Amino acid sequence: MAEKVLLIGNGAREHAMAKKIVENENKLFSYMAYENPGIADISEKFILGNLTNFEKLSKFENIDYAIIGPELPLSFGLTNYIEDKLEIPVASPRQEVAKIETSKSFARNLLEKYEIEGNPVFKICKTISDFESFVKENGLEIAIKPDGLTGGKAVKVFGDHFSSYSEAEEIVKQTIAKDGLVIIEKKVKGKEFSLQVFTDGKNIQLMPLVRDYKRAYEGDKGPNTGSMGSYSLPDHHLPFLKQNDVEKAVDILKKTIKALKEHTNIPYVGVLYGQFMKSERNVFLIEFNARFGDPEAINVLKLLKDDYNVINQNMIDQSLKKVNFENKATVCNYLVPKGYPINPLKDEKITISYPLKSDLFYASVYRENGTIRTTTSRSLALLGVGNDIFKAKRKVIEDITKIKGKLYWRTDIGELE
Ligand code: GLY
Repeated sequence: MAEKVLLIGNGAREHAMAKKIVENENKLFSYMAYENPGIADISEKFILGNLTNFEKLSKFENIDYAIIGPELPLSFGLTNYIEDKLEIPVASPRQEVAKIETSKSFARNLLEKYEIEGNPVFKICKTISDFESFVKENGLEIAIKPDGLTGGKAVKVFGDHFSSYSEAEEIVKQTIAKDGLVIIEKKVKGKEFSLQVFTDGKNIQLMPLVRDYKRAYEGDKGPNTGSMGSYSLPDHHLPFLKQNDVEKAVDILKKTIKALKEHTNIPYVGVLYGQFMKSERNVFLIEFNARFGDPEAINVLKLLKDDYNVINQNMIDQSLKKVNFENKATVCNYLVPKGYPINPLKDEKITISYPLKSDLFYASVYRENGTIRTTTSRSLALLGVGNDIFKAKRKVIEDITKIKGKLYWRTDIGELE
């Protein structure tokens, strides 16, 4: 039977979720901060509003279930609001357990309390003298992390953002003045990977591993961005990981889901995403996300063989079953305004010559009299799927020639390491 599904969010990740929701004749209802043309075009109805102010949501009627794309409304308790006030089930975590993403100190303390591996050497510092003693013991090769959501851009790392004690001290002082605390971690070097799971709070189902590239420029250089692209491989593994590394990451996610239930008495329902770092000797948890990754959602949802709505309903009903993915490679490239992220060219026209061989997902663009234009953020994502990574990448590269505008993209996404 066709479901009526409420989706909250407006990025390329949510466009990917929206495309899966409307399969099998399900009806999409969307709540967005700004109009994503791709989501708007496939919605039965959409309402624009603030993602942290939920009043307008009562205008949607007879919804079967809701799902939330981004982390910000999760941190404001949107799941709790929809479940408790609107009495609609939600396939996303409640505020108490979404804290695994929304508070980094909570996440580190939870791993420590339940003796779950994955923490680097860290300290939650409330004073400059806490910080000073950490540096005395561990050196200055550290990462300085604010506790709450920062869009990944406020984490400061030795070598990239500071190189002297006084620079680090200044960042720490400012963060403590603002938040009352700061998380200091020994810097971990290696290669990052993303592991996402569906969970009903008890059972988990793994998604294909994804490699995400956050740096703006070729060769993984330049400032951090939301992400410039990602890839996955037909065997759902990554070339720089051993089976044992993957098992460690899975173990961390499984134990965390169990610990969250024990700690809060609330089951974690939805997608849990671990961002891991494979160093020479170990696997470290960089951070958790209480939602799909962007763009990792784009890679994995395309490969999903099962009905996405059934998976969401099963998570809500605590009866998650085996989830199957196609054994194909995916390459996702973000196209961003030239100058992004420092000085992006906004209001520039984008023209697309269809047909495309890859899938297109709108991110942050707007439509004015039928013309798509850039904002200051990422514009759109292309996803190529193929029997191997070269075929997947070729589709994206061919399609990029069909997209005209003042746009930039990284040519090295999906080049094996
Ligand atoms: N791909 C990184 C994130 O979604 O946070």
